Amino acid sequence: MTNTRDAFIYREIYNRLRSGILTGQMKSGERLPSTRTLAARIGVSRNSVLAAMDQLTSEGFLESRAGSGTFVSESLTRLTPTTSRLAGKLSRRGKLIETTAVSRQRLATGFVPFTPGLPDLNRLPMAQFGRILSRQTRLLSPEAFSYGQAGGWQPLREAVALYLRMARGVVCDTDQVLIVSGSQACLDLCARVLFDPGDTIGTEDPGYLGARGAFLSAGLRIAPLQVDEDGLVVSQLRRQRGIRGIYVTPSHQFPLGVTMSLARRLELVQLAERQNLWIIEDDYDSEYRFHGKPLSALQGLDRTGRVIYTGTFSKVLFPGLRIGYIVVPRNAVAAFAQCHALAARHAPILEQAALAEFMKSGGFYRHVRQMRSLYKERQSILVDESRKLKGLIDVSPCEAGMQLVGWLTKSTRDGGKLLSAKAAQIGLDLAPVSDYALKPQDRTGFLLGYSGFGSAEIKRGMGLLERVLKDNR
Ligand SMILES: Cc1ncc(COP(=O)(O)O)c(C=O)c1O
Repeated sequence: MTNTRDAFIYREIYNRLRSGILTGQMKSGERLPSTRTLAARIGVSRNSVLAAMDQLTSEGFLESRAGSGTFVSESLTRLTPTTSRLAGKLSRRGKLIETTAVSRQRLATGFVPFTPGLPDLNRLPMAQFGRILSRQTRLLSPEAFSYGQAGGWQPLREAVALYLRMARGVVCDTDQVLIVSGSQACLDLCARVLFDPGDTIGTEDPGYLGARGAFLSAGLRIAPLQVDEDGLVVSQLRRQRGIRGIYVTPSHQFPLGVTMSLARRLELVQLAERQNLWIIEDDYDSEYRFHGKPLSALQGLDRTGRVIYTGTFSKVLFPGLRIGYIVVPRNAVAAFAQCHALAARHAPILEQAALAEFMKSGGFYRHVRQMRSLYKERQSILVDESRKLKGLIDVSPCEAGMQLVGWLTKSTRDGGKLLSAKAAQIGLDLAPVSDYALKPQDRTGFLLGYSGFGSAEIKRGMGLLERVLKDNR
């Protein structure tokens, strides 16, 4: 092939002929038009056709007979046309996976306010991160580019362990920290390692769809648990029978934004001990706390190895990085590492190595501090702007996070679905709280993400929101 275009044309011709033969559209023994005729018919060079036919001949799909031309091989007589009935059937588990959502269905397209949980993608420390990445490419030993450890790149495990001990009160050694592809992979590992299909797990309601999806697709049943202003209502668990684990977001409940009180945390850890439950603590955005220090992680309160702690770089850096971490009790490290190895072997080494350096250099911590003050400012812009919508929607400030909830002063029966659809038509992304809930909600609320949008966008978004709400009165 002389260039990419020729290579593309060759591949197209090859694929079409091959699939024509495999699907039975071209029968065994059928004669193909001459290369000259085919080339003229498709409008491509004869060389591309020749190359494709040569390849198919050498693979046994075609045979050439001296003096009479090229034919579909006789030896393929047993090939029958495929029909959808005969096409590969998914397993029951495959069908369950196919139909389980990992996130809400977004009605608005593009980067529009108020998509929740998005870091500001225009403020990423890409110049610095890029330099580190390129240095790592040169400095790492050749072995680093081979298969690595399922638990992750050792220097990153060390950097994360140090960070979690220092900043989050997590009690762990480096070997309890595994690096995986984002929190989603952590949740999937938990679902498979800690539970059997048919087990029941309690999840906050409303709650994170990625977690619910991971559990459902592993065949678990979900028990929706109520959340109030102190976080998960632990007392309701005394009445629930048959629950094997609980998924919580104590630092900043997703989506409501409340922080679980210390009293509730202690109550939950004690209950887990008494009832022999696993607790999965998802600490996805704890870095964004705007006043005072965050409450230490639940994991640090646990004395019996029942809390699994998960975190991610999706919010403090960017989601496309796909790097997260999970801290597991010592006696579960081997099972988690093995499960990760079976699914993915390990997370990509180069990015892990660069991230470890970024953390060691202090660049990571600087970026988090900058984003924390930026997002704090953006939250107050959103709250100020929302005052103009008084009587329509209530937006209260929150000491943490990347989004607030705006509660309609008059609830709607459909949980805000129609309003959300109308908002999408004018380029506004309004995620109804009800999209995250299993049980009907008393109030109608929408998530108002501010972290990913500059002040002009936030103001524009609030103007659009006013229009949608007023039109609906
Ligand atoms: C509650 C919660 N956990 C975890 C995540 C991040 O997941 P990941 O690390 O897979 O990007 C999110 C992102 O929106 C989230 O809202």
